[in-house]
Amino acid sequence: MPCAAITGWGAALPDQVLTNADLEARLDTSDRWIVERTGIRERRVGGTTTGLAVQATRQALSRAGMDPAVVDLLIVSTNTPDQPVPATASLVQGELGLAGGAMDVNSGCSGFVYALVLANGAIATGLERVVVTASDTVSRIVDPEDRSTAVLFGDAAGSVVLEAVPGEPMLLGWDLGADGGAASLLYQPRGGYVYMDGREVFRRAVRATAASAQAALERAKVDVSEVALFIPHQANLRIIEAVCQRLGLPMERSMLIVERTGNTSSASIPVALAEAVEEGRLSEGDLVLMSGFGAGMTWGSAVLRWGRRPA
Ligand SMILES: CC(C)(COP(=O)(O)OP(=O)(O)OC[C@H]1O[C@@H](n2cnc3c(N)ncnc32)[C@H](O)[C@@H]1OP(=O)(O)O)[C@@H](O)C(=O)NCCC(=O)NCCS
Repeated sequence: MPCAAITGWGAALPDQVLTNADLEARLDTSDRWIVERTGIRERRVGGTTTGLAVQATRQALSRAGMDPAVVDLLIVSTNTPDQPVPATASLVQGELGLAGGAMDVNSGCSGFVYALVLANGAIATGLERVVVTASDTVSRIVDPEDRSTAVLFGDAAGSVVLEAVPGEPMLLGWDLGADGGAASLLYQPRGGYVYMDGREVFRRAVRATAASAQAALERAKVDVSEVALFIPHQANLRIIEAVCQRLGLPMERSMLIVERTGNTSSASIPVALAEAVEEGRLSEGDLVLMSGFGAGMTWGSAVLRWGRRPA
């Protein structure tokens, strides 16, 4: 059976920086409160979901040295499309001249992990080159006057290129789940701003992320001590710390970008992955654990072996 390998990665962040000091100036909040409760110091805001997705995808294709005309499928994860119809993937495909199919996934902040598992499956069924891009611009759908959400979110896109290679499987274990009964804890009413029950979402995020990561590790037959890098969804530093504690994973083995980006929804994991690769934090054969949690409520985890692994 053909196996997938990640051969390209990319990230796009808007130029505009929104600092805690900027928020302090217009909201009843403080740098101290935001840092203590979330670990966030600044976020990047602006741009469009499609524009950021195009930028990140172009970078991932270029790093993979791949001609857009040979792509078989583009999957875009987004919870914040610029328009409901058509799919953001079609717009990205048109802009970059990609060949193949194009589809969107909307699974909250877990969307990238969902799309990665789907892409891996697509390669197992015979597709040769699949691009997975996650792009979100949540800053557009939060009430700028609501201190309980406005301080949390930023905008970004991240992308990876998967290619079929002979060799050992990349995806060793995964876990996907959803609890639609809890959907009203985090949602955007039609035409309105995001509503979130922060305290309850926090509680569930810790519990579900840790349980999902454990399930994926078990499926992969990997012990947590073997994980070289944990790439969690970047919503809140305290959530990541609590998850690491539950898993028995030292924080030094976690990739952290939340301080500079805020919560960029489904883009956070691929942006963190791209930065980890560029910083030289991943070597051939390393085991990587990714875990996300978000609106839906959804959760998803994946255990990957990094690099191309000849048979
Ligand atoms: C939102 C979040 C940071 C709030 O932190 P918390 O420790 O749970 O704080 P609470 O919501 O209990 O609020 C504590 C107090 O701070 C206040 N507060 C809320 N936002 C504030 C802000 N930006 N600045 C100052 N005070 C704020 C609240 O009004 C509350 O005041 P009260 O006690 O007088 O009612 C936290 O709940 C969280 O991160 N939740 C998960 C969010 C998330 O990750 N969502 C996306 C998942 S994908």
